[in-house]
Amino acid sequence: MQREEIINLAAGPSTLPQSVLQEAAQGLLNYEGTGIGLTELSHRSPDFTKLTTDLENILRKHLNVPQTHRVLFTQGGGSLQFSAVVMNLLSRHRRLYPDLPEKDRVMDYVVTGNWSSKAIEEAKKLAGPCTVHTVFDGREHSADRKFQAISAAENWKISNNPAFVYYCDNETVDGVQFDGYLSKEGENNERIRFPFHALPRDPSNPTNLVPIVADYSSSFFTRPIPQIEDHAVVFAGAQKNVGPAGLTILLVRQDVLVPQPTNSLYPIPTTLEYATLAKSGSLYNTPPMFSMYVSLLIMRHYESKGGLSAVVAESKIKVEKLYRSLEVGEKKGVFKLRVKDGSRSYMNVTFEVLGEGNEAKFLKEATEKGLRGVKGHRSVGGIRISLYNGVTIEQVDKVVQFVLEFVEKNAS
Ligand SMILES: Cc1ncc(COP(=O)(O)O)c(C=O)c1O
Repeated sequence: MQREEIINLAAGPSTLPQSVLQEAAQGLLNYEGTGIGLTELSHRSPDFTKLTTDLENILRKHLNVPQTHRVLFTQGGGSLQFSAVVMNLLSRHRRLYPDLPEKDRVMDYVVTGNWSSKAIEEAKKLAGPCTVHTVFDGREHSADRKFQAISAAENWKISNNPAFVYYCDNETVDGVQFDGYLSKEGENNERIRFPFHALPRDPSNPTNLVPIVADYSSSFFTRPIPQIEDHAVVFAGAQKNVGPAGLTILLVRQDVLVPQPTNSLYPIPTTLEYATLAKSGSLYNTPPMFSMYVSLLIMRHYESKGGLSAVVAESKIKVEKLYRSLEVGEKKGVFKLRVKDGSRSYMNVTFEVLGEGNEAKFLKEATEKGLRGVKGHRSVGGIRISLYNGVTIEQVDKVVQFVLEFVEKNAS
């Protein structure tokens, strides 16, 4: 098979722009005329230091990262951040409220899908005597106990002074996302944005909200981060929209960057401590150099196409086209969209193919047409089509054509 014959709609790692990969292949052999391939350079060389600064600057510029926040690069993926945020944010809370009994230190979790479920389980493992509190669990608001929607903040139980409030912007497995720009106006649909307005102020610094932690693994650099300044930590693995796997990007506010006292009863492993990463300029140990390199090339590629606003505009076109075609199938009894309007993801579109044997038929025919990676996550089944930044409008047009043909053939 040739690359041109395939439309890679996988949930991550996912497709990356071909021109960038070609450029990266060249840099792998000879990085910017140094005669040394990128992965053969020293990570402390001036060439790589410049690359790190350039990557930070381009992210800062397009995401409007405020000066109160550091941009950090590390390894371990979103999964390791499930642990790191617990340790770093509890440490901050202990510094600010040393006399508080440990059981009164609360971590608030908003559970909207598979990934925030995993994050809360990790917090329970690491909490010790501290309390892990579920602010909202999407399963409790659906008839079949599946993640299908996010409800408005009236249903949320937020603690008064939590160590942090955690949410996942886009649930990659379930296809549930905050910010319902997809929902149609005038149809009584709730447009579910993250309810910053419902969060209490931080008693230690009332100009801020209580610390917010957000997992942006599958929506980083797909739209501006709403109220970015109110987040204590934003984290994302690069491998969906920004680059190859291996790189984890962190945006961390200064008040989380205080080193732990050496005699702490609750030590944080050195490589997981945000203060260490910040102090060393993300160079405490060897960073994921190749992934950072490709990510920088990808950022430059998006910059040349008009930056984040162009990415957003393209994304809107792609999701509108795909959801509209699926709605045609839904009206004709061929598909069932999994997620309620208002909480639908614009990155991972999940649905079921109705009727005995029809899902297998859909998958077989999709494969014949060159569509790849559309089988739903093993935990939920069904179909999942991911529309990350690397998927082009032309490719989505082909997907839509396939979907509509399938509907025509299978409508009863
Ligand atoms: C929303 C979200 N969070 C966390 C993760 C885990 O990321 P990683 O595999 O980089 O640890 C993923 C992976 O797909 C994800 O989609």
